[in-house]
Amino acid sequence: MPRAPGRIFADGPRELAEPLVAALRAPAIDHEVAESLTHPFHSYPARLHPTTARLLIDLISTGVTENALLVDPFCGSGTSLVEARAAGMRAVGTDLNPLAVLVARAKTWTAPQRRRKELRDVGHEISGKALAAGKAARRSGAEPGAMRKPAGFDPNARNRRLSAWFAPHVRRELELIAMMVDEVREADLELGDILTACLSAILYKVSSRTSDTDGTWVARNVPRGAAARNFAARVELLYAGLEDLAPAGGPPDVFEIDARRLHEVVPDGSADAILTSPPYAGTYDYAEHQRLRFDFLGLRHRELDEGEIGSRRSFMAGPQGERSWRTALADFMQSIARALHSGGIAAIVIGDSYAGGRPMYALDDVRGALTDELYIDAWASQQRPMLGAGERRSFQERAKAEHIILLRRR
Ligand SMILES: C[S@@+](CC[C@H](N)C(=O)[O-])C[C@H]1O[C@@H](n2cnc3c(N)ncnc32)[C@H](O)[C@@H]1O
Repeated sequence: MPRAPGRIFADGPRELAEPLVAALRAPAIDHEVAESLTHPFHSYPARLHPTTARLLIDLISTGVTENALLVDPFCGSGTSLVEARAAGMRAVGTDLNPLAVLVARAKTWTAPQRRRKELRDVGHEISGKALAAGKAARRSGAEPGAMRKPAGFDPNARNRRLSAWFAPHVRRELELIAMMVDEVREADLELGDILTACLSAILYKVSSRTSDTDGTWVARNVPRGAAARNFAARVELLYAGLEDLAPAGGPPDVFEIDARRLHEVVPDGSADAILTSPPYAGTYDYAEHQRLRFDFLGLRHRELDEGEIGSRRSFMAGPQGERSWRTALADFMQSIARALHSGGIAAIVIGDSYAGGRPMYALDDVRGALTDELYIDAWASQQRPMLGAGERRSFQERAKAEHIILLRRR
């Protein structure tokens, strides 16, 4: 969530509306929570602010039994899952993005201490070997190294897609690290995946991609050895965050599945609370944002390409984008109504957007998608700045805002 301040409006019983207002204000005030636990491990577009997540979990877990279940159907990089575990709740996350699932699992990998130490030792060993191999190759003048060949991917096509994004020495270093991670994965799938998330976390920093959300090429001067050193530092950061989170208990379940199929992994009526932030209509392309990571790491993403809801590309394609967004929102509401038990509560963080050339009012959209089993208990909205002339023109009648909507299951 952006940190820009804006006027706040709220409705509902005071004991609910006030904490919602505090959760909207928190990102501009509190910076400590965002740097705690495993939150700083990996960038992710439209990440829920950790302080907002913490305050909302405080609110929605009030009065629930010990060991209550929190579900995040659009868990992304797992912010809510980290905070749920820190609060002692059981947690389940789903997301259609394979990169999100990889990152959310790594950020909540509260495996036994022996395993976490293994992550640290193996991570440092890989980094050391990559540094040593780089030096040896330069000394002998035999620089070009082997390129990884992820199973099921055409190596030439992969090479074509990747070559412009990394300086040759950076690419060699990254490929070597990835090949050593592959060797770990052959014997230990779980550890291999956690190390892959560490590699993913540094990938854009040493590439020429501007950022997750900006796919333009930018010149970056990345010194030799930087990829290996950044990789070791990222392993260390994750290890330290997991140390703080581990007393909370074992890792949550994170599934790569469409949020509209939540019932396949969360039994009906079993969730005490839901905290989630669905895509904002026509704002992001989660598939596009991770394209370079998908290509480098060899992650399959066909289901995300086809099933991502509210994507920018779907709104750009014409009016059917808006229609399928509304259908998806209604299907999602049915999913959460099924998952929650009677009296269960859902906090939805969602923003207005300028999509396909027109304003989309998220609070109205959620209202319009509610099933008979769900009602709005309280909401709070904070005005957000308009980006560009088109947006300013289209939001003339009502300001653009970000909302936290509290739903209750009858
Ligand atoms: C606003 S982001 C969630 C960010 C998350 N709260 C965090 O802190 O990282 C929305 C997420 O919805 C996911 N998504 C889009 N369509 C989906 C679908 N049909 N089923 C499940 N997840 C989907 C995207 O991959 C993205 O991770």
